[in-house]
Amino acid sequence: MKVSGIANANIALTKYWGKKNPELKTPYNSSTSVTLEGLQTTTTVEFDEKYTEDIFILDGDEYKTGEGEYDNVHEQLDLIRAKAGIEQKAKVVSKNDFPTAAGFASSASGLAALTFVAAKAAGLDSSVEELSKISRMGSGSASRSLIDGFAIWHKGEQEDGEDSFAEQIAPVEHWPEFRILGCVISKEAKKVKSRAGMKQSVATSPIFEQWYTNAEKDAQKMVELVKAKDFEELGNLAQNNCILMHACAMTTRPPVIYWTDGTMQVIHRVLELQDEGMKAYFTIDGGPQVKVICLEEDVPKLKDELTKLNMVHEIIECKPGHGPRVIEEHLF
Ligand code: PMV
Repeated sequence: MKVSGIANANIALTKYWGKKNPELKTPYNSSTSVTLEGLQTTTTVEFDEKYTEDIFILDGDEYKTGEGEYDNVHEQLDLIRAKAGIEQKAKVVSKNDFPTAAGFASSASGLAALTFVAAKAAGLDSSVEELSKISRMGSGSASRSLIDGFAIWHKGEQEDGEDSFAEQIAPVEHWPEFRILGCVISKEAKKVKSRAGMKQSVATSPIFEQWYTNAEKDAQKMVELVKAKDFEELGNLAQNNCILMHACAMTTRPPVIYWTDGTMQVIHRVLELQDEGMKAYFTIDGGPQVKVICLEEDVPKLKDELTKLNMVHEIIECKPGHGPRVIEEHLF
C-alpha cells in the first residue's frame, strides 16, 4: 500500500542531550517541546514486492547504503516490518520545507513522518504512544513530533524502554498565541550530528551529570509552566536550559560547538531586548539557528529588530502545530 503524510518539527523547550541506553535510545532525562506548524516533512512510503532493496529519496537526492540518512531510514523500516510481520522492501520519498540538518530538527519531523506513514503503509494500527516509541528509535526528538501542541517525552524508568514515550501536556488550542521565530543563520548541514555529539558528551563532559539532573527538574517544571501559561517563567527556563545543554556540549572532548558568530549576534540582541522589557527568549538545538520564543503580539517588533541583524538570512514564524496527518497527494 502507498501512504503519504506530513509531520511537523518540534522545538525542545527543555532539551535532551544524552542516551542512557544507546540500544533502546532512552534518554538520561525527560524533555519538553512544542510542535511547530510550518516546519514540516512530507513523506510517501510504499511497501511492494517490486522493490529489491529499500529506496530513499530526500529533497530529490537518492541516498545509498552506508550513508547515514539511508541507514536511519532502513533501520526504521526494519522496525516497522518486524512489528507488521512483513518483508517487502519500500520506496520512501520525502521533502522538507526547511533547511535540512542545520538545527531545525529536520530529523524530528523526518523520522516522525516516516514512522507514522510507514506504519500505516505496513498495515499497522498503532497508538500515538506506540508510534512515539518507534520514532524514538530513529531520532530521540522525533518521539515528540507525534504530539499535538506541547509535549513531554518521559525518560521512563523501565529497563525495556516501554515507558519512554512522548505525551501531550496541552493541545494547540491551549496557547494559540505562542510563537517561535526561527532565525536562519546558515543553511549548511551541521558538522557534528546530535547522535555523535551527545555520545561524546556522555563519555567526556565533566558537567554531564549536573546537566541531566538539572534538565529533569526543568522538564517537570516546564509542564507546570505550560499548563499555567506562565510565559515569562517559561521563556527564562527554556533559555537557561538551552545554555546548560550547550555548556555540556561545549565542555565535551573534542568540543561540540554549534554556535557561530550569527548565533551570538542573535543571542546578544535578544538579551538586549529583554533588558528593554521585551518578553522574548532564545533557544538553540544542534545547529547555529536561533529560535526566539515569544507571543503573537510581539512578533512584528521582533521581526523588525531581528531582520536588521546582518547574519540573519531569513525568519520563519511558527505557531504551535499539530501531530502527523495523512494526505491524499503522493510524492511518487
Ligand atoms: O533527535 P536527536 O536524537 O537527533 O537529538 C536532538 C537533540 C536536540 O535537538 C539538541 C535537543 C532536543 O531535545 O531536541
